[in-house]
Amino acid sequence: MKLISCNANRPLSEAIADYLDMRLTRSEVKTFADQEIFVRIDENVRGEDVFVIQSTSYPANDNLMQLLIMMDALRRASARRITAVIPYFGYARQDRKTDGRTPISAKLVANLISASGADRVLTVDLHAGQIQGFFDIPTDNLFGGPVMIDDIKERFGRDKIVMVSPDVGGVVRARALANKLNADLAIVDKRRPEAGKSEVMNIIGEVKGARCIMLDDICDSGGTLANAAAALKDQGAVSVSAYVTHGVLSGNAVQRIEKSVLDELVMTDTIQPSESALKSKKIRVLPMSPLLGEAIRRIANEESVSKLFDR
Ligand code: R5P
Repeated sequence: MKLISCNANRPLSEAIADYLDMRLTRSEVKTFADQEIFVRIDENVRGEDVFVIQSTSYPANDNLMQLLIMMDALRRASARRITAVIPYFGYARQDRKTDGRTPISAKLVANLISASGADRVLTVDLHAGQIQGFFDIPTDNLFGGPVMIDDIKERFGRDKIVMVSPDVGGVVRARALANKLNADLAIVDKRRPEAGKSEVMNIIGEVKGARCIMLDDICDSGGTLANAAAALKDQGAVSVSAYVTHGVLSGNAVQRIEKSVLDELVMTDTIQPSESALKSKKIRVLPMSPLLGEAIRRIANEESVSKLFDR
């Protein structure tokens, strides 16, 4: 088997390689002056089971093209099987028609990935589980939950915690963690008056005197978490932390989190954290390389991946 990385998150690719006690296959991904992308694989991959690691995070289109072009190169170099390891699957939020004459870009991207040569996909916390069905190839959607549960247990011990879903769409995810932690559940009724803006309407559930832990798949502008944290504290929460799988953190999101009443944002490294995120005293990063590395090992050995979550 071979591991190969595009450029979106090399530190994560290297950490996965370390976990597997392997090295990354030598390759070159570069951009010409007109922004076209060029890829060259500098080792033989004929007949190999190849795992290409690339998050389609900012800049989403360039990173997506790197992945597609890398897989095209691998297919033409006669790789036996190609698994697209996409720790953060961008475009996932465009998973339905929200209005007339709008695209379903998540499906388009899934088609592009298959057409470029992927035989399987390995990803983490898809925005909606049913996006797996957009692929007609086997797709493993890993859960960040177990990594977070270990951290929550260590951090909060026996404190009374309430798991909070920051919007109605995240209830299933938050309830699953609440059950595993024996915690109560609360739900924030969030509305989006327009894309990129969020407003808290109501809080469903009792949070007074509790340490609240919000759970979300993505923190993008930080608006959802900042607004929800303020509403939870207004309702008497003692502390509010957030656990998020994908720290998209666009624009001035880090500053927004810093200025908010949120006590801590814990996110994984499916997206390479920016310098400002790493410097922030409110942001902590959990490594995903052990989970991704173990899933890759199991796929390569034809072992169960779902067993990873049997606990
Ligand atoms: C929305 O459904 C997602 O789960 C996140 O809540 C959302 O993407 C967060 O966006 P922002 O940080 O910009 O409020």
